[in-house]
Amino acid sequence: MKRTVATLCLALVAALLLSAPQAAQAKQLTGELEIFSWWAGDEGPALQALIDIYKKQNPQVEVINATVTGGSGVNAKAVLKTRMLGGEPPDSFQVHAGQELIGTWVKAGRMEDLTPLFKEQGWMDVFPEGLVKLIGTKDGIWSVPVNVHRSNVLWYVPANLKKWGVEAPKTWDDFFAIAPKLKAQGVVPLALAQNWTCNHLWESVALASLGADNWDALWSGKLKFDSPEGVKAWELFGKVLEYTNADASSLSWQQATDMVIDGRAAFNIMGDWAAGYMYTTKKMQPGKDFGWLASPGTTGEFMFLADSFGLPKGAPHRDNALAWLTILGSREGSDAFNPIKGSISARKDSDLSKYNGYLQSAAADWSKDRVVGSLAHGVAANETFMGGFASVMEMFLKTKNAKAAAKACQQLADKAGI
Ligand code: GAL
Repeated sequence: MKRTVATLCLALVAALLLSAPQAAQAKQLTGELEIFSWWAGDEGPALQALIDIYKKQNPQVEVINATVTGGSGVNAKAVLKTRMLGGEPPDSFQVHAGQELIGTWVKAGRMEDLTPLFKEQGWMDVFPEGLVKLIGTKDGIWSVPVNVHRSNVLWYVPANLKKWGVEAPKTWDDFFAIAPKLKAQGVVPLALAQNWTCNHLWESVALASLGADNWDALWSGKLKFDSPEGVKAWELFGKVLEYTNADASSLSWQQATDMVIDGRAAFNIMGDWAAGYMYTTKKMQPGKDFGWLASPGTTGEFMFLADSFGLPKGAPHRDNALAWLTILGSREGSDAFNPIKGSISARKDSDLSKYNGYLQSAAADWSKDRVVGSLAHGVAANETFMGGFASVMEMFLKTKNAKAAAKACQQLADKAGI
């Protein structure tokens, strides 16, 4: 009897030893993984950190890092549309949480429901409830968030402000008070870049003018864009534009940031990927080499956006894409990506010791500020509104007619079903 048990045990151990490599082999992913985003060039290092983790875990998979240059996805989104409609989706693509995801690809029935992955990975408790709502509908959860970015940030170089004898403005009145002094010294008060960065500036100015309640009321249809409050926001925006550089339309957001770094401009209002650019690419230290404040008139308000990746139906390498999404949502992936990117983790359990001083302050604000959604980066409105808004902006830049712009926005809102 004793011998039989011993023999059985040996046989079992042998069987386990034999089967283990086979099981591991069966799990070994092969083939390709194509990921699609607009994180090219200066925006690439954070994405690369995720790819490095993926390659380590899946050495047999060839990762195709398909990027289309252009801040805020201006060019990438058009290319993605052609591919999706042409039946050639990448395995996974970057998309902003909110209406950019829900109002387009989810509405068109082109995405896979990721609820099983969220449950399997225990993500239901790890991501903030509000964020999960933003990437979900009653029918499912449609993407994995990789970060939280802040849109309403004013950037500057402390040593330059000192040299010019000005302080970073907390309100637009403060800004208008110091702008002539800067101009007199040959300094552009506020650096601006191509069209989408005007939309970006507009949302910070509009938030200051309207306040958070009215900002939210615009997107729930409770406040009309052509109301007196709506018109006032455009008027303030027009006044702010008077202090920006004339060559804005030919610059990228990095070049507008360079103007601040080089001392050609005093300030820039940009999302905190600018902190990533200054820290990661330019090797500048937050608090010392560059400073920041909430954009004028928005102290205590956090205008947020989140980058996420989804799984399109018909993804050619579905299993490889699921392994990719698993890394994106993990604590390890998140804490490797975000400190380089200039964003905070979308997870509630990130290791803040890995994040620099700017990001630690952003994380503190995220947990206590009033949070509102960005228009320029996909949270607040769908593609119909966003596409039309770019044209309204073009018109306003030429005419500076606040009433006409406000009216055109309301017409857009009606069309977009807001
Ligand atoms: C935003 C995006 C950021 C950053 C930025 C500039 O839309 O969410 O991650 O890439 O554009 O391109």
